Amino acid sequence: MSLEELKQLAIDMVERAYCPYSGFPVGAALECADGTVFTGCNIENASYPVGTCAERTAISKAISEGKKDFVRIVIAAKTEEACVPCGMCRQFMKEFSPDMEVICLNVRGDAVVYKLEELLPYGFDNHYLLHH
Ligand code: THU
Repeated sequence: MSLEELKQLAIDMVERAYCPYSGFPVGAALECADGTVFTGCNIENASYPVGTCAERTAISKAISEGKKDFVRIVIAAKTEEACVPCGMCRQFMKEFSPDMEVICLNVRGDAVVYKLEELLPYGFDNHYLLHH
């Protein structure tokens, strides 16, 4: 899938967001190594901490369908500045694909492209668990 197509899927997902508490809708589109694409939106809850981000929705859909090698994710929000993923989502991504690309969009669809490693340097991973 082209980057433009992946961006459009993420932008379309903004409209699926369930965010009555924050009023901050986010969409995501995740591309796997085999070309499969999964989308997501943020899903809030009256019990606020129960809510989840668009990125983790998309990644959870992928994992539960047997995909865990990710090439890139596009994140779309209606912000002036391109919206970056929260720390929890960065850690969630790192578990599966530490080398993936994170493409952040602003309200006009302009992209800022990061490597996950730039967004989460020195992140925790399972090698600490294996060597304790
Ligand atoms: N949110 C996302 O879905 N992704 C991000 O990258 C940033 C934050 C959501 C969580 C919450 O529903 C709302 O945006 C406000 O924080």
